[in-house]
Amino acid sequence: MYSMPRVCAYAPGKIIWFGEHFVVLGKPAIASAVDVYAKTCIESSNRIIIESKNLGIKYSGEEEPGPLKPLLKITEIVGKIKPVKGFHAVIDSNIPVASGMGSSAAVSVSFTAALLRHLGIDYSRELVSRIAFEAEKIVHGKPSGIDNTISTYGGFIVYQKNKRFRRIRVKWPEDYILLVADTGIERSTKVAVEKVLDLYRRRTRIMKKVYDVAGILVKEAIKALRKGDVKLLGDLMNINHGLLVSIGVAIPETEVIVHKATRSGALGAKITGAGLGGSVIILCHIKKAPQIVSIIEEHVKRILYVRPVSKGVRVKIE
Ligand code: MEV
Repeated sequence: MYSMPRVCAYAPGKIIWFGEHFVVLGKPAIASAVDVYAKTCIESSNRIIIESKNLGIKYSGEEEPGPLKPLLKITEIVGKIKPVKGFHAVIDSNIPVASGMGSSAAVSVSFTAALLRHLGIDYSRELVSRIAFEAEKIVHGKPSGIDNTISTYGGFIVYQKNKRFRRIRVKWPEDYILLVADTGIERSTKVAVEKVLDLYRRRTRIMKKVYDVAGILVKEAIKALRKGDVKLLGDLMNINHGLLVSIGVAIPETEVIVHKATRSGALGAKITGAGLGGSVIILCHIKKAPQIVSIIEEHVKRILYVRPVSKGVRVKIE
């Protein structure tokens, strides 16, 4: 059977290794894209239809857009570059929602790239990231821009607000892996960011010092990643987790995972992303992984074995 060609864009999820939250107020952070993806496929239509398979919702002009609102914002911005009459977009993602793995940014990035390509607009990655960032502002309030950047460009990056990001050439020792333990507790990044900013406003003098330490950790972590020094990397992750506890984004469910993982042989474990639920990342030797998994599994909804990927968003005709 003949079917119309569709433009499909795949955008990766991410892991923040160091510096989440501190990055919102200008400190550097380290993130990598990982091999879980949001996919948007677009074909022609005489009106605007946006469907999310994961959320089980559809917008076709009359309904309240609800969680699809950021995608209408993207449509509006793209419409200023070239008028948009209609299209049918279907979004599908295997990135767990609200888990700290950048699912909303990956959806926005894949939707933006697919729509630009569908309309035949000559676009750069910079444009995709910039437009997706506008959608992120609707979802997260005051995002730093790290999530849309890493999903657009891929690889391992050092990100600092209002600066060009830098790539890190990582020497990864073959026999070490990173586990992502998802508590299954969905939290709002917006709420977590506001909570931390409120503490910063109330305790600025002390918080400034905490933020400075977070900046130093990133510098050390860049060296550890370049050298493949997993022992140092693990220590830095544990210290970074301590800072996240101090700014109030840990909850008992993340703490029990961090403690049990480090007690059973992980080199490092920390919250990744906004916290208050979401996921914990665990660095360990591949041989230790089964034991760690068996000890933490009663506390998690799912455990993902992810691999960093060097490519960011890519577009295909299917
Ligand atoms: C969310 O993935 C990371 C935060 O630092 C927020 C942001 O950078 O936008 C918590």
